Amino acid sequence: MSRLLPHSVVLLLLAGLAGCNSGPDPAQRQAAVDAFATVQKVFQHPRCQNCHIPGDQPLQFDEGLPHAMGVVRGPAGHGAEGLPCSTCHGEANPPASYGPHAPPGAPHWALPPPQQRMVTIGLSAPELCRMIQDKGQNGSRDFAALLKHVSEDKLVLWGWNPGGTRAPVSVPHAEFVAKFKTWTDAGAPCPTG
Ligand code: HEC
Ligand code: HEC
Repeated sequence: MSRLLPHSVVLLLLAGLAGCNSGPDPAQRQAAVDAFATVQKVFQHPRCQNCHIPGDQPLQFDEGLPHAMGVVRGPAGHGAEGLPCSTCHGEANPPASYGPHAPPGAPHWALPPPQQRMVTIGLSAPELCRMIQDKGQNGSRDFAALLKHVSEDKLVLWGWNPGGTRAPVSVPHAEFVAKFKTWTDAGAPCPTG
């Protein structure tokens, strides 16, 4: 090889190969970690974390109080056999005339299943960062599938149109998706400490 190619070319080729493996440069990594702070703010907003819980009873309101009427997760996340979420939660928010305490709605309204709870509530930034990208915990989603989920999933989008007098997620959806992309494009680095 060294007889066929001048040394400078070999060095350039090696440098190119090394570049492929070196991951984001420090500036891109820092920008990604900064972007993750916005991602965290959304995931741990009450409209999101009230369903992403370790326990078996969904939470309500900004205070995260236990769901009224003894509602529980059930065997698949859709509620108890006799009282599924769909008894009260429809495919869309009811009209405003139903009052501020009518059950909000979106397609496939449920908690994650008990075997895979996708807990976000109460996690530190590094813990949340690792959970979101852990295929053992996130429903085997790669970065592309996660980006699609946060861009399009109906339960996610409901967070910006929660009905009643509930406060929507405080970061605009487009900004959240852009920050999520900045974070995952850099390999989803996690904050330290
Ligand atoms: C009504 C309950 C509910 C609400 C509200 C909700 N989710 Fe979820 N979320 C679920 C369920 C159920 C799943 C599992 C669905 C699946 O795996 O297909 C899920 C899965 C996810 C996943 C993929 C798995 C993971 O943990 O990485 C992400 C990401 C996610 N939700 C983000 C959000 C965000 C962000 C919000 C708020 C904007 C939100 N969710 C609001 C119920 C909810
Ligand atoms: C018996 C009726 C009923 C059933 C069954 C029910 N809910 Fe609800 N849910 C409600 C009502 C009513 C509200 C609104 C309460 C209010 O705003 O005062 C609500 C609110 C919520 C909220 C609060 C949203 C927020 O951020 O404040 C979540 C989350 C939720 N339900 C999840 C579920 C899940 C998941 C299931 C099934 C496991 C379920 N609910 C089953 C009636 C029900």
